[in-house]
Amino acid sequence: MLVLGIETSCDETGVALYDDARGLLAHALHSQVAMHQDYGGVVPELASRDHIHRLPLLLRCVLRDSGKTVGDLDGIAYTAGPGLAGALLVGASAAQGLAFSLGIPTVPVHHLEGHLLAPFLSGNPPPMPFIALLVSGGHTQLMRVSDLGRYELLGETLDDAAGEAFDKTAQLLNLGYPGGPALAKLAISGDATRFKLPRPMLHSDDLNFSFSGLKTAVLTTLRRETPDAQGRADLAASFQDAVADVLVAKSTSALKATRTGNLVVAGGVGANQRLRARLNEAALKNGFTVYYPELEFCTDNGAMIALVGALRLRKAGASLSFGVRPRWDLAELPAI
Ligand code: KG4
Ligand code: ZN
Repeated sequence: MLVLGIETSCDETGVALYDDARGLLAHALHSQVAMHQDYGGVVPELASRDHIHRLPLLLRCVLRDSGKTVGDLDGIAYTAGPGLAGALLVGASAAQGLAFSLGIPTVPVHHLEGHLLAPFLSGNPPPMPFIALLVSGGHTQLMRVSDLGRYELLGETLDDAAGEAFDKTAQLLNLGYPGGPALAKLAISGDATRFKLPRPMLHSDDLNFSFSGLKTAVLTTLRRETPDAQGRADLAASFQDAVADVLVAKSTSALKATRTGNLVVAGGVGANQRLRARLNEAALKNGFTVYYPELEFCTDNGAMIALVGALRLRKAGASLSFGVRPRWDLAELPAI
């Protein structure tokens, strides 16, 4: 079964072809980062317009790379939410229009389910059940995944998401948008022990997070002193370690509390090398195994949407509904 996946929930246009017998055949991605950079964040209307412009070009790319035609498609999966309403509608409309013209079904996909199942695109997929640490620009959640489509929320952020904290802190350090990768790069030459930043909710006895105070602590530090180049690197490293400390501790607690031995790290912040190193250390020490999606599938992409589309289409068949869900609770999904 050949499924086309379309991702347009935010500032990346992703298109992919997934065959449930052969795996991922082709994928293409266009990042709008350069376009939004001047504004310091995503401008929703510009994002929607750019998705309209890019989708046909990316579709042509994946068809050419895989040697397929639209006539070979069995279904079209698109991100239906959560995300920016206008941007989601572009992907949904393109999927519905093309599917209608071809007489094939569409599958509305939950963006976070895409992130959760992205490790299944690699050659070493995690066994079920697993705990998922979902750390993206909009979400920070710990989920228990007992089976495909069976997700139980264990804890989440009460304010900023981890990626949002990276982006806002990067902005305080004038690192531009999106700040996560830039801050991580600056932190490489920094001393993480130089600034004593808080570890919010580390001892809260639950699996929730809070990152807005950490960003404020960075702001307070910058008001108190004007660090030189080394000081800025030290501050970036200190911030990164504070986030990593909390994420590692809460993930370890979630694994222990649920007696689960496998951790999957999904979402853009999962690309952070320092977080990965710290999680790997904790895994060795506590006897669990960590699974990461391939680096290119940590951040938003069409491949994860095509994969979930193929799984859901195989199980539930065609969907006749057409709509988007800018806000969408992952626990509402039916099992696959
Ligand atoms: O999953 P994603 O691509 O999009 C959302 O669904 O939100 O995640 C984007 C987030 C941004 O906040 C970005 O700054 C962060 O992931 N990010 C990183 C790194 N790469 C991306 N944060 C820290 N270190 C990185 N290497
Ligand atoms: Zn995402």
